[in-house]
Amino acid sequence: MTTWNLQGTVNHLLICNGSSCKKNKGEEVAEAIEAEIDKQGAGSLIHTTVTRCNGRCSDACVVISYPDGVWYREMTPKSGKALVRRLLEGERLEENIVYTYEGQLTAASSKGTKGKKKK
Ligand code: FES
Repeated sequence: MTTWNLQGTVNHLLICNGSSCKKNKGEEVAEAIEAEIDKQGAGSLIHTTVTRCNGRCSDACVVISYPDGVWYREMTPKSGKALVRRLLEGERLEENIVYTYEGQLTAASSKGTKGKKKK
C-alpha cells in the first residue's frame, strides 16, 4: 500500500491494463510513461494509476487524462512518452484523442463513435 502526497498534481493519467490493453503493450505504455515522468522530473505534477478495462477495448491501449477529461487511443510506449512531454507543455496529444470532455464525453472523430451505446 502506498499513500502519496498529491498536493500540486496537475494531471492524473489512468493507464488501462485490462486484458485488451495489456495485449497492446499496456504494461510497456505504463512503464514508458512513468520513465518519462521521472526523466522530466515531473513526479510531483503527473500522477499515474494503472486500471482495469475502461470499456474501449477497440482503442487499446487507452490512457485517460484528468482533470482535462481527454481519452487517448492506440497508445504506444513512444506516444506515452510524447504525451508526458505535451502535458508538461500544456498541450494535448491531438493525434491520439478519441474523446474529450465538454460537459459530457464527446467523440473527437468518427472512430470515437464505434461500439455499443451504453444504456
Ligand atoms: S482493456 Fe483497456 S479499454 Fe478494455
